Amino acid sequence: MIHDRSYRARAHPSLALVKYWGKLPSGTNIPATTSVAVTLSGLETVTSTTTVDPDDPDRVFIDGVERHDDRFPLLFDRLRKWILERGGERRAYHVQSTNNFPTAAGLASSASGIAALVVSAARASLPRLDLTDPAVARELSALARIGSGSAARSIFGGFTRWRAGAESAEPIHPREWWPTLRIVVVPITADAKPISSRTAMNRTRSESPFYEAWVHDAKTIATEAEVAIDTRDLERLGRAMRLSYMRMFATMLGAAPPILFWLPGTIAVIHRLEELRTHGVPVWETIDAGPQVKVVTTEEHVAVLLDAVREYTAEPPFICTPGEAAR
Ligand code: PMV
Repeated sequence: MIHDRSYRARAHPSLALVKYWGKLPSGTNIPATTSVAVTLSGLETVTSTTTVDPDDPDRVFIDGVERHDDRFPLLFDRLRKWILERGGERRAYHVQSTNNFPTAAGLASSASGIAALVVSAARASLPRLDLTDPAVARELSALARIGSGSAARSIFGGFTRWRAGAESAEPIHPREWWPTLRIVVVPITADAKPISSRTAMNRTRSESPFYEAWVHDAKTIATEAEVAIDTRDLERLGRAMRLSYMRMFATMLGAAPPILFWLPGTIAVIHRLEELRTHGVPVWETIDAGPQVKVVTTEEHVAVLLDAVREYTAEPPFICTPGEAAR
């Protein structure tokens, strides 16, 4: 007789310092651009997955509400196939997930959510699975990618890279590499974003005349950011980050009709940070498919930063450090 088993996993969002934006036409969520990211502590998804009778439907509850997302069936099928290959039983899954931050508002809840789901389902099915084994982590990363591209990076802690054309992400430095680094998430609104990053990405690829240029140039920016991380050079990293997100948004502005995620507060914060930098405060922003601003700085500048953005925030900012791998 088979016993139902549960496993509770915890994962953190992956903030792209250099963006993944655009998928190759073949494969599932294979990136057209190399991204470089940091996994964030402070924001987290905690997910409990229970194995159930394989004839039951898979069910996913996020913050207590059942979700029927069309990416789940393929993700669960790939997970089951992988678990069978590793000697596990064929089971269905009941997933309960909670976030300590707003979902779907451009705070990368899909990255941490899918990473936690994959780890919890894998461990519930294979209790002896060694999550610290690099080969296992790589395979979990490839599985997480099926649910959400950025989740491939959330499997790992610290600083990560996900190469254009690759099925999985890879670690580049552990979280201890840059202990003074801080990532301050500035929520401009708590409302859900109007369109998903997946839709925006696909529309950009098919509609924007700037898309090819973006892909062509993205590699140089990723290399630049990696060198900046290798040498802990914040200004160099900040300049690469700004080029990456600005060009990503430029592709969206070229879609027909144009896609515009920014709100007035987003632009106000961009200008405010520019002003701080002219006064020698190293605060470098990046933005994902949403209006929220994420600012990279070091420990000693956080107080000045918080003071400067206070009037634009919808709720208190989150102060993050480089975070842990999904476990
Ligand atoms: O993981 P997805 O499919 O939601 O796409 C993530 C896209 C960005 O957050 C805008 C960039 C990135 O690299 O995380």
